Amino acid sequence: MTRITSPFGWETTAAEVAAGHDLSGRRAIVTGATSGLGVETARVLARCGAEVVLAVRNPAAAHGLLDEIAAFGGKAHAAALDLADLRSVEAFAAAEDAAPLHLLILNAGVMACPLMRTAQGFEMQLGVNHLGHFHLTTLLLPALKAAGGARVVAVSSTGHHWSAFDFDDPNFERGEYDPLAAYGRSKTANALFALELDRRYREDGIRAFSLMPGGIQTELGRYMTDEVRQRLGTDPEGARKIRWKSVEQGSATTIWAALGRELDGVGGLYLEDCNEALPSEPGMRSGVKPWARDAEAARRLWDWSAAAIAAA
Ligand SMILES: NC(=O)c1ccc[n+]([C@@H]2O[C@H](COP(=O)([O-])OP(=O)(O)OC[C@H]3O[C@@H](n4cnc5c(N)ncnc54)[C@H](OP(=O)(O)O)[C@@H]3O)[C@@H](O)[C@H]2O)c1
Repeated sequence: MTRITSPFGWETTAAEVAAGHDLSGRRAIVTGATSGLGVETARVLARCGAEVVLAVRNPAAAHGLLDEIAAFGGKAHAAALDLADLRSVEAFAAAEDAAPLHLLILNAGVMACPLMRTAQGFEMQLGVNHLGHFHLTTLLLPALKAAGGARVVAVSSTGHHWSAFDFDDPNFERGEYDPLAAYGRSKTANALFALELDRRYREDGIRAFSLMPGGIQTELGRYMTDEVRQRLGTDPEGARKIRWKSVEQGSATTIWAALGRELDGVGGLYLEDCNEALPSEPGMRSGVKPWARDAEAARRLWDWSAAAIAAA
């Protein structure tokens, strides 16, 4: 298959990708729009004329962005969504499922936290990054189908390199907890979820993508210990050597996944720097690993996730 590419790249900003797109009459939901990439993603979609729902843990924290969007004549509102509680996800979806939904941006995330559990007892990174988003998306399927052409964008990460999905002990109930392995599994799950969602619902006009946004200095490091930073090479010494993207650049691949015309008629792809990612060979710090492209694992993860949520 030919690799899908675009005129954009590492340096491109979200606003540059969005230039010329008119989203009037389109509705978008962006999770985690209180910080980092979610704020810029929501801002850019609203600037293109979309009606944007800021799906956030604390709606009061979205006031600044709402005021800014209102000031340029955009349409947006904030609604409470805690991905660490399936009942909160259900309440959010019940309030937002009435109108067609054209873009669902699964952006919220938590990284390398200590061992914590969600309201239903799932390991926190699995619960927030994958299961909460899985539940949200399946509850919103009628609204996505009603759009007559929708895209779902799962923000994954190169962190998926650190671990395939562990079907034997997904919640670290037996094995020793490792904060980076847990993040890695959850980000592999994001990629597999997009693959399987696309396979299941492309006939209904729903296409799905996952992506690596780049390395961006946001609040994502809030839980990181010195030991984790050293393992990642993001301790103060290491961080000086990293080529970080700005938040505007870091949101570009999400916007390309949502709007890019080069992606019309395709789906299930893992993207990076506004292009389809290359396969990641051993030693490469970019690209997509085979376990994040494994169609059988994607089917199995879907069934496992649905069963885990049904039992919770
Ligand atoms: N920054 C990077 O270098 C990088 C690299 C690769 C992938 N990513 C991915 O990019 C996405 C965005 O990350 P970011 O860098 O913008 O991080 P960030 O600044 O920490 O933003 C994360 C967002 O997720 C929200 N969130 C966390 N837990 C939540 C929960 N239980 N329910 C609902 N929302 C929750 C946060 O809300 P609160 O404000 O309420 O905490 C915040 O809005 C994540 O999926 C991350 O894994 C980032």
